[in-house]
Amino acid sequence: MPTEIAPLAQTVGLDIGTTTVRAVIADVIDEQLEIIGVGEAEARGMRKGVISKPDLAVESIKRAIEAAERMAGQEVRDVFVGLSGAHIKGENSNGMIAITGRNREITPEDIQRVLDTACAISIPSGREVADVLPQEYTVDDQDGINDPIGMLGARLSASVHIITSPVATKQTIQNCVNRAGFHVADTHLTQLAAGESVLTDNDKEYGCAIVNIGGETTGLAIYMRGVVWHTAVIPVGGAHFTNDIAFGLRTPVPAAEHIKREHGCASRMVLDQTERGFGPEMIEVPSVGERASRSVSRGMLTEILEPRAEELFTHVYEEIKRAGYDRQLSSGIVLTGGGAMLAGLTEVAEAVFDAPVRLGQPNESEEVAHPGYATAVGLALWGANATQGVRLQRQQEQEREERAVSTKLKEWFGLKKRTA
Ligand SMILES: Nc1ncnc2c1ncn2[C@@H]1O[C@H](COP(=O)(O)OP(=O)(O)OP(=O)(O)O)[C@@H](O)[C@H]1O
Ligand SMILES: [Mg+2]
Repeated sequence: MPTEIAPLAQTVGLDIGTTTVRAVIADVIDEQLEIIGVGEAEARGMRKGVISKPDLAVESIKRAIEAAERMAGQEVRDVFVGLSGAHIKGENSNGMIAITGRNREITPEDIQRVLDTACAISIPSGREVADVLPQEYTVDDQDGINDPIGMLGARLSASVHIITSPVATKQTIQNCVNRAGFHVADTHLTQLAAGESVLTDNDKEYGCAIVNIGGETTGLAIYMRGVVWHTAVIPVGGAHFTNDIAFGLRTPVPAAEHIKREHGCASRMVLDQTERGFGPEMIEVPSVGERASRSVSRGMLTEILEPRAEELFTHVYEEIKRAGYDRQLSSGIVLTGGGAMLAGLTEVAEAVFDAPVRLGQPNESEEVAHPGYATAVGLALWGANATQGVRLQRQQEQEREERAVSTKLKEWFGLKKRTA
């Protein structure tokens, strides 16, 4: 008799970003997330998406999860954590196996075998496979198959997207999360997690790119026919816009950050549509040191921000073109991450990509309705699905074992009767 799968009670997403650490605790009800705890802390000890000073990172992780725990009114242990950083690489690979035996159906074991073959790539020492995302299968000459289990064939091939990362990246995450008092259930690439929370099945089916603009990195993932075909990380994020302001207007970085958020607009075209309003025409800019503050026009601020936005999106567009997916993304481009909050950014992106661009944010609750929460919510969601998947697989394996045992018993009894 099939064993009932108990609903997964809870899932926790932890996004250790360069600017902010965010934690989301959610109950899983009817495959939907019900957010019960949200916490964030200023990220310290991080550089370009990776932990550079573990002692400081541990404190930030602790503060973010504990804040979420206080809101949820309960303690957690297992967390699904985002993997990020410019050293993470994605590549596609293929593998093929023979299905031996006449008229034999393809089994889950064959799938595992063909995936293992597809993953047999040479990896430089010091790196490891962080994730394997199956794309499509081919049975004999029939390609584009999502689930070949039960099909008949002599040859089975699989294409996969393999994500590799320096061994130290995951290890450091695990150590820091442990030291903070929690346990890493699994890791997932941050932009793919963001994709989980803001993309629809149709987006992934018809082709779209997610561009997650963080503090010091921008993650890209391309989806088509429901699966991932390309991933990349560009070491540029919102902090570069802030630094440009600090340098261009000769103002301290915290003042530049404030000016960017309050008055910044990356698009001259949007700025000229005055009805959208960006506060006063002239902005008070504090000077460095003892000097008096100055007044700067909003137009001048846009002159600093627009070229940086164009440069970032040109970089992303070239990556999409190199992968061969320009002109193919019919569902357009979705921007997430705190950096995507800059006014006028979607308009600059539309001009560079010549495709529809929208801002993506989770819609599970008010607390997470912000592009910066796409990753943390996506990790919780992905964790819930992955765990459910593992449970299903375990259940199927158990049922298969039970069937095998009962067949053996029947054979044995049959044998006994005949020999009796
Ligand atoms: N309202 C806003 N307007 C403009 N930029 C904003 C706004 N809010 C946040 N940002 C920018 O978002 C960036 C941080 O985004 P996010 O929190 O997604 O990054 P992170 O995940 O910490 O970093 P990374 O992904 O690079 O590791 C900062 O550069 C910040 O200036
Ligand atoms: Mg991030």
